[in-house]
Amino acid sequence: MQKVCGIELSTDLAESFLEGGAVQALAPEIARVADELEARQGPGHEFLGWLDLPTATTDETFERYDAAAARARDDSEAVVVVGIGGSYLGARAVLDALGPGPGAPWILYAGTGLCATQLRGVLSTLEDRDFRVCVISKSGTTLEPALSFRILRGLLEERYGADGAARRITAITDAEQGALRAQADAAGWESHVIPGDVGGRFSVLTPVGLWPLAVAGVDVRALVGGAATMRAACRDTALHENPAHLYAAVRAALYRAGFMTEVQATFHTGLATLGEWWKQLFGESEGKDGKGIFPTSTLYTTDLHSLGQYLQDGRRDLLESFLVVREDGPPVTVPADVGDGGDGLDYLVGRRLDDINWQAFAGTRQAHVDGGVPCLTFALDRLDAAAVGGLIYLFEKAVAVSGRLLGVNPFDQPGVEAYKREMFRRLGKPGS
Ligand code: PA5
Repeated sequence: MQKVCGIELSTDLAESFLEGGAVQALAPEIARVADELEARQGPGHEFLGWLDLPTATTDETFERYDAAAARARDDSEAVVVVGIGGSYLGARAVLDALGPGPGAPWILYAGTGLCATQLRGVLSTLEDRDFRVCVISKSGTTLEPALSFRILRGLLEERYGADGAARRITAITDAEQGALRAQADAAGWESHVIPGDVGGRFSVLTPVGLWPLAVAGVDVRALVGGAATMRAACRDTALHENPAHLYAAVRAALYRAGFMTEVQATFHTGLATLGEWWKQLFGESEGKDGKGIFPTSTLYTTDLHSLGQYLQDGRRDLLESFLVVREDGPPVTVPADVGDGGDGLDYLVGRRLDDINWQAFAGTRQAHVDGGVPCLTFALDRLDAAAVGGLIYLFEKAVAVSGRLLGVNPFDQPGVEAYKREMFRRLGKPGS
């Protein structure tokens, strides 16, 4: 397969676990599902707005983000992004992968749970720093961000007065519905719209992801550009030339052959949060009606010293998808020992750490394949905005196809309401 955005997908070490031709045999089914998606048909068709986001973001929209970034840089040392699930994971994943731009304010997160320790940590960081708040919620009613926002808004008003606070709040929410929209309109906060036809976990290329990322100094134009390049590649009709379709096909064939858990494994600390985003995307899209591959993620080599034993030798219904980076920034090279080489590492003198990490990846993949784990690999030439944008679109398209192949609606999440009902009843929410 050709590289797209510097990403190469290889599936041979997974396809070798399947009957010859099992993946190619899915091509007609995949083509049907892909046509259905492009025609905006099938279950969840009202949530397919993400398909065109990479080419729909206008210069004017980017300029609004530039202006927001300039304001934040001007008056704040920290920006608290308040949101949960699809309303935060994408931005965090991209920022952790790419790092902040020079001079950008520190991005903090709140509303990602109900843990008091976490919120106390954020509040203590803000004690001696000027800050802004960006609250993100499509429904505008989610408990976790709403509670954190109430507390942070109080702090803003205490410190900057009602008018000053209003100038330091950005709300990203639905165009019309929800308490947050009503609050934003009434108070005149800067606000941006989450398109109604884009669900939370598919929203990273809307203001949900792009506003915080622009403020953090990430090159959002390159990010969206990468996604656009990937969108074009993911329309290719030849299965083995279309990364999203090929990934979906290999997963589907493995699932049908009894492989029930997918481990996304990276050797790059910056990509660990992308694993969190990917878990939500795949878990929430596929895990319904008693079906779906269970998605989990690991950070190697760290986790080889904890989960490595299970991967090598535990239940044999695992598949593994590696996310690896060939060139990991400025070199860190193993020096000559200051002592007498008593640590036994002289055979590595002059080797780059990213080269040693690559050999650890190659060795791990071989060992896991030998141990009975089908392995796919997404190899990135370098970790840049275009590659991350490309990966985002690739995974979104793959899960849409894969969910439809599974016979579920990949764009709803009815199961997440169950815990809310039980929690609200215990909390005494009126009407619960
Ligand atoms: O993907 C989803 O739909 C969810 O993860 C939501 O993003 C999450 O529950 C937060 O919802 P909201 O943006 O409405 O606060």
